[in-house]
Amino acid sequence: MKLGRVRNIVVVAGAGISTGSGIPDFRTPGTGLYANLAKYDIPYPEAIFNIDYFSDNPHPFFSLAKELYPGHHRPNYVHYFIRMLHQKGLLLRMYTQNIDGLEKLCGIPDDKLVEAHGSFATAACHLCYTPYPAEEAKQAIMKGNVPICTFCAGAVKPNVVFFGEDLPEKYFQHAEDFPKADLLMIMGTSLKIEPFASLVNTVKSTVPRLLLNRDPVGPFERRPLRRADYMELGDLSDSVRKLAEILGWHTEIQDLMNSHENGLRSYTDPSNSSGTAASKQEFQPPQNSNKCLWSATKNPNILLLRCV
Ligand code: APR
Repeated sequence: MKLGRVRNIVVVAGAGISTGSGIPDFRTPGTGLYANLAKYDIPYPEAIFNIDYFSDNPHPFFSLAKELYPGHHRPNYVHYFIRMLHQKGLLLRMYTQNIDGLEKLCGIPDDKLVEAHGSFATAACHLCYTPYPAEEAKQAIMKGNVPICTFCAGAVKPNVVFFGEDLPEKYFQHAEDFPKADLLMIMGTSLKIEPFASLVNTVKSTVPRLLLNRDPVGPFERRPLRRADYMELGDLSDSVRKLAEILGWHTEIQDLMNSHENGLRSYTDPSNSSGTAASKQEFQPPQNSNKCLWSATKNPNILLLRCV
């Protein structure tokens, strides 16, 4: 990477990249989602994402969905490292299994991202696939109701891919992308779920594959490793930060993350004639800002932070 010999990186990611944002993964013993579903009274953990089980009984998924809907978590350093790959023109595509939407939230553009297991961004009837307004579905689910298809009266669900459902059209872009890759980065996944897991075997045999994960998974459990396979085991944020430091990108990533995260707290300048007040937020002064002025607004509950 430092010598500029790599131009088309494909990233393959799983739930392990979001644990740093406070979202449990699926299979880590004790803390993984599948170890904490007893309250849903389901026959086995994966049933909660099984389309046949959902068809008979959508309620366990809908109660879990209230906790899974994006909006309570923010992207972490690992997401911003992948965004930096894009900023540097090195990211061919990211294939994620995650449905938390954090890749988009950190600014990875749509054309660089394949959400292979879908997302909560859209919704449709699980029987006739008639599209349904995602926000309406979310409101119904949050209220404990089952959104019903206006066409066939089937249960509507967010377009996260269940076991037994087809992967989205965009997933099939892999047939073009993986043979083109000159480096494959595999992050935070157990590589247990097909057909996604087999993607890692579709790069050319001479292309380096780098696993960044707590433990060896998939082809990396084999000994000896394939010649061009490398792995850095341990906590993902530590390994990614180490890689960023070797590349000389750490400060840039930190700045990108601070500005993107702080820039999301929308507020208006007190001299703004429209005087529109800020939305009520807890501000943290952005790092390395030269000077920040707190100023009161008309609304006693809102302070404005202006950094110059
Ligand atoms: N640092 C390093 N590795 C981590 C960290 C971390 N902070 N947190 C988790 N991991 C590793 C775990 O050790 C595990 O190897 O990430 C991997 C996560 O594996 P899973 O929990 O199985 O998640 P994932 O691979 O994304 O699951 C794939 O399974 O149930 C389906 O649809 C669901 O998309 C999901 C698919």
